[in-house]
Amino acid sequence: MPQPSVVVGDRLRGRSVDDTRERIRAVLSRARERTEVLTDSVNDADLMAQHSPLMSPLVWDLAHIGNQEDLWLVRDVGGRDGVRSDLDDIYDAFQNARVDRPALPLLGPDEARSYVRTVRDSTWEVLDASTLSGNPLEEQGFAFGMIAQHEQQHAETMLATHQLRVGDPVLSAPHAPRIGGTVTDDEVVIPGGEFTMGTSDEPWALDNERPAHKVNVPAFSIDATPVTNEQFLAFMTDGGYERPEFWSERGWEHRREAGLVAPQFWEYDGCGTWWRDRFGVVEPLHLQEPVVHVCYFEAEAYARWAGKRLPTEAEWEKAARWDPISGRSRRFPWGEAEPDESLANLGQRFLGPAVVGSYPTGSSPLGVHQLIGDVWEWTSSSFEPYPGFTAFPYREYSEVFFGGDYRVLRGGSFGTDPVACRGTFRNWDHPIRRQIFSGFRCARDIAGDRP
Ligand code: AVJ
Ligand code: FE
Repeated sequence: MPQPSVVVGDRLRGRSVDDTRERIRAVLSRARERTEVLTDSVNDADLMAQHSPLMSPLVWDLAHIGNQEDLWLVRDVGGRDGVRSDLDDIYDAFQNARVDRPALPLLGPDEARSYVRTVRDSTWEVLDASTLSGNPLEEQGFAFGMIAQHEQQHAETMLATHQLRVGDPVLSAPHAPRIGGTVTDDEVVIPGGEFTMGTSDEPWALDNERPAHKVNVPAFSIDATPVTNEQFLAFMTDGGYERPEFWSERGWEHRREAGLVAPQFWEYDGCGTWWRDRFGVVEPLHLQEPVVHVCYFEAEAYARWAGKRLPTEAEWEKAARWDPISGRSRRFPWGEAEPDESLANLGQRFLGPAVVGSYPTGSSPLGVHQLIGDVWEWTSSSFEPYPGFTAFPYREYSEVFFGGDYRVLRGGSFGTDPVACRGTFRNWDHPIRRQIFSGFRCARDIAGDRP
């Protein structure tokens, strides 16, 4: 009789290989359902079109998802011939800038769908044959988890493409909660001292989240919730976009050149009301929702106007993970449990952020709300490796971006699947980008901080 082997010494402690295989099936299937919603909801012309020079045609994302799976699961893990190795160049993100992708000899919609289906059929066989151990790629199903995260990251990118697409709405979902709970304090003090940042034992953590290391973070104060539309409007009403004193030099230059006057997708009706276009539906701005579609420079200007600053990445992670009772770092603000519907707004269940205070049970021990889900949060940190970083399994996931003109974003958005979101997860983008689901919260130093 086959004995279920037990994976020990990590976050899957007590999880048998069979349970891990079951979890892999679930996350890969969920990713594919999401991909299909995003690619089957538009017609062929829309699938092939480039809706913004910042984005790929959706049909490129679709076949690229299949190609990465072909590379890592069918070929590397499975040791099989690739389904379509001849496609590797076309779907290599580094060989082809987004702006050039429409001109490539791309697979058409039906060919792309059939490609990803054939690859997935192979993947299921590879999964059944793998012991999920024996080498770093297969250990605890890492490569499968990586590929599920990759597909879901592209699902979020494709959702951003949908937001940029012009035309009748094609996506529908219930509206995120519009009535929040009570948030008792505006700001939360995080005591000073060391905490553990990053992870060495989260099986599917990506290379840039590793290894776990101690960081000393002096006491600081952080907003209990992301900055809301109402708060951001107060900045605008106070001349925020016209007053250079709130902006960094680079930020002001960008604000002028790009003609920024409001977050992206906001529209003023000239009669006192701001509206926003959400996936083709124009609706009045909800004042208690976190602001979304702001770039780093807008976040930075708001923070200065408010007499605050953006948190560093270490501050954000300490606020999200540090448990003041045990002194340990948690996987999520609420503890070790996987996110569910009561804890955070993730997974494209809703097509926007929920009003602040909507997830009291998802808050951190010290009372910081909605760190996970709703909107990605800009931090003041540039994207750098942790001490002891090793690229794995490929340099192009993280390493080539270190030292570039990027700022780190944390926490995931309503468009991020739970498999691609945790307290240690690091996202990054150029400081001028705002087509992503980006918002922020502020922090500040504590006057008279004593050791
Ligand atoms: C981590 C979100 C910045 O989309 O460029 C997808 C994720 N890497 N395919 C991106 C990724 C390769 C990446 N981000
Ligand atoms: Fe990719």
